Amino acid sequence: MIGFIGGGNMAEAIIKGIKDMASHHIKDIFVSEPSKQRRLYIESTYAVSTTDNNKELAAKADIIVIAVKPQIISALAEELASVDISNKTLVSIAAGVSISYLRQALKTANVIRVMPNTPALVLKGMSVIAAAEGVSPQTLEVVTNIFSSIGKTLILPEAQMDAVTAVSGSGPAFVAFFIQSMIAGGISLGLDAQTASVLALQTLAGTSELLCQRSPEDVIKMVSSPGGTTVAGLKVMQESDAAGLIANVLRAAATRSAELNIKITGQ
Ligand SMILES: NC(=O)c1ccc[n+]([C@@H]2O[C@H](COP(=O)([O-])OP(=O)(O)OC[C@H]3O[C@@H](n4cnc5c(N)ncnc54)[C@H](OP(=O)(O)O)[C@@H]3O)[C@@H](O)[C@H]2O)c1
Repeated sequence: MIGFIGGGNMAEAIIKGIKDMASHHIKDIFVSEPSKQRRLYIESTYAVSTTDNNKELAAKADIIVIAVKPQIISALAEELASVDISNKTLVSIAAGVSISYLRQALKTANVIRVMPNTPALVLKGMSVIAAAEGVSPQTLEVVTNIFSSIGKTLILPEAQMDAVTAVSGSGPAFVAFFIQSMIAGGISLGLDAQTASVLALQTLAGTSELLCQRSPEDVIKMVSSPGGTTVAGLKVMQESDAAGLIANVLRAAATRSAELNIKITGQ
């Protein structure tokens, strides 16, 4: 049985993915969630069992997915102190909470840390997985399969999690900001809001498909003709060091991820 502590957005995306993937061996899903309204919604939408009791869930589940906000983890560890979970697999999706902290706070060695992202809600997520030393290949495979049901997965060393959090974790907000700015720019050129939005969104969707087959350099070359409109726009990007700005944005997010880990775990 797989149990989710916290039945919020990300837990829901993963449950949806598991349910949609008919080939999954996971038959039983259990969710622990304080909000009654949310429990009723999860039960009726996904036909899974729910509880408001984290201890009950931790005792019953073989794989425990921690899907609460990072700030809640230390209180959760105290709450679960009386439950022996040392023989269970603990999967944490909490941003900025290290494997070593989870191992020590929740008293289990079998810990896997995952950084999914919001497009998981439309089953196009990017989940990066880091396993604690000693986690068996079989356990890693089971967990990888779960996250494969909500998009792509990649197994990386935990040391890369701050960079991962910046690029794919926070990335959807940065891409959305770019599109928001394209829409505003289109409106300022005289387009109505709906038209600007359709043009920007379809350009995003089409370009992201194209980028699965061609490199960013190729796409830039394909659109740019000498002395043309794209080159005029790209010149402004180069002169304002847009690449440097994006690097700074990612650096700030990665730095914050490292700071949050220290704040939450004290390590
Ligand atoms: N969303 C993302 O893009 C994203 C990406 C990567 C990682 N994550 C990580 O995923 C985790 C969950 O994020 P989310 O976006 O799904 O947040 P969320 O929608 O707020 O979900 C958290 C859920 O946990 C419930 N909860 C609160 N205290 C609890 C407790 N003591 N025991 C059990 N459940 C409790 C909350 O209920 P109430 O609302 O009633 O308090 C809420 O339903 C976070 O650690 C976040 O860092 C999220």
